[in-house]
Amino acid sequence: MNMKEVNPTLAIRQLYPRLTILVSTVDSGGKVNAAPYSWVAPVSFVPPMLYVGIQARETLTVKNIRETKEFVVNIVTKEWAQEAVNCESKTEDKVEKSGVKFRESKVVKALTAEQAKVVFECKLNQIIKVEKADHFLIVGEIVHTEADENLKRDEIAMHIGGEKFVSPGNEFSLERKK
Ligand SMILES: Cc1cc2nc3c(=O)[nH]c(=O)nc-3n(C[C@H](O)[C@H](O)[C@H](O)COP(=O)(O)O)c2cc1C
Repeated sequence: MNMKEVNPTLAIRQLYPRLTILVSTVDSGGKVNAAPYSWVAPVSFVPPMLYVGIQARETLTVKNIRETKEFVVNIVTKEWAQEAVNCESKTEDKVEKSGVKFRESKVVKALTAEQAKVVFECKLNQIIKVEKADHFLIVGEIVHTEADENLKRDEIAMHIGGEKFVSPGNEFSLERKK
C-alpha cells in the first residue's frame, strides 16, 4: 500500500463511484423537470424509503418537490446516460432537448423516464437541512417500484466524478458470518 493524505475538499470523491439517477418532478402547473443526481441511498426497508442529497439552494428539483411533495427516481443505464446528463443544464427547454422521453407514472403525478429500467415513485417524507451541511437530504417514501427483470448490473452508469462514468465490473461472493 502507498497511503497518501487526501485534500479534505476532495475527500467526498473517495465515496465514488455512485449510482447515477435522474430525478423527475412536475411543478404545481404540471410542467416537467428532471435532473441527474448521484447522492442517493436507502434509509428504510419498512416502509421502503430513500434519500437524495441535493444542494441546499432552491434548485428546480427542490422547488417542485416542495410544491407537489412527489418525485420519481429513475436509475440511469449506459444506453441513455448522455440524455439523462443533458438534464443537468439550466436552460428552460433542457428536458425537451435532452432526449429523455417520459410516460405516466403509476401512483405519483411526476412522470417516469421511459428509458429507465428501474424506477422508484416517491412521496416526500421530509426535507432535512443537516446543520452546517451544504446539501439537503430529500427523504422519500417509495410508493411504487418497477424494474426490468432482464437488467444486467453492467448496464448501470455509475458516476466517478466530473465527466467520468463507469459500469459495475466483476461480481464476486463472500461468506458472511450472521
Ligand atoms: C452525474 C451527475 C450527478 C450529479 N449529482 C448531484 C447530486 O448528487 N447532488 C446535487 O445537488 N447535484 C448533482 N448534480 C448536479 C445537478 O444535476 C444540477 O445542479 C442541476 O442543474 C439541477 O437541476 P434542477 O435545477 O433542474 O434541479 C449532478 C450532475 C451530474 C451530471
